[in-house]
Amino acid sequence: MSGRHLAKQQPENFEFNADFAALAQKRIAMYPEGKQASAIVPLLWFAQKQHDNWIPEAALRHIGDMLDMAYIRVLEVVTFYTMFNLAPVGRHFVQFCGTTPCWLNGANKIKDACKSVIGEENTITADGEFSWLEVECLGACVNAPMVQINDDYYEDLDEDSFIQLLADLKAGIQTKIGPQTDRTNSAPLGGNTTLIDNTLYDGSMVGGYKSVLKQIEKAEAEAAKAAAAEAKAEVKAEAKAAAKPKAKKVAEPAAESKPKMLKAARRGKADDLKKISGVGPKIEGILQELGVYHFDQIASWDAAQVAWVDAQLKFKGRIDREDWIAQAKKFVEEGDK
Ligand code: FES
Repeated sequence: MSGRHLAKQQPENFEFNADFAALAQKRIAMYPEGKQASAIVPLLWFAQKQHDNWIPEAALRHIGDMLDMAYIRVLEVVTFYTMFNLAPVGRHFVQFCGTTPCWLNGANKIKDACKSVIGEENTITADGEFSWLEVECLGACVNAPMVQINDDYYEDLDEDSFIQLLADLKAGIQTKIGPQTDRTNSAPLGGNTTLIDNTLYDGSMVGGYKSVLKQIEKAEAEAAKAAAAEAKAEVKAEAKAAAKPKAKKVAEPAAESKPKMLKAARRGKADDLKKISGVGPKIEGILQELGVYHFDQIASWDAAQVAWVDAQLKFKGRIDREDWIAQAKKFVEEGDK
């Protein structure tokens, strides 16, 4: 950081020349009435440009008068920005960036070169060619380390290239501005490392938009084919079902085959029909709902009546297979209840 003090040796007066005066008036006119003070930074910049890259105190007072600002306000602004020089600088004024990214990339070597080639900070070489100042980040960290010399950036420096740069400037040789390597602007050193595959742009790459379109078309065609096959299979299945002979309807037992049923158990006590093998509590309940409470009812059923009850129970012949009639007759004979 520079010492923000005014130079001891100051010129008596300062006035903008015709060109800078015109520029100053144009700039002041850009702001609304009463807000002319907003033009202070460009006017300070014009004064520095006109006056060998530094601003004398007389210029600060002149600008304050132009903008109707107190001198102290102008001083506050001009001492805030390191871009404004308050004392004479060399013809080639080096602003050296010593902030972390530049420092990590070898800025200390550049600083050493500033000291060895130019001299102490804020001093001008005897021939008036150079002076230097350490400043904070100049926003070109990607190409660190770097310096600003007058209005130009010089980046990707090392000690040798920086010393050569100073020598070229002193000799009046046209220097390369920007990166001192083969990179373009802030592109990677040695050329681009990403987005360099041309198939990214010609559509031939898997995942490229043309490839994706083709995949969508293919998927749609396959889906349509599958749907057609499914519809065809459905038609075929329906035709097959229509051609299949209908199963013979099993004849329902005639209503007159229904055995004589009771509304309730005789003397209020039903036999324990669960004694018949094949009759559980559930079937016993159904039988009672039908009106069958006693062994002798079952023992009296003929074949047609067995078929009727079998149909009610949806037993498909189980009464015969389990021989309920014989079992019931036995319980009757033995007097079981
Ligand atoms: S740190 Fe040097 S330019 Fe940003």
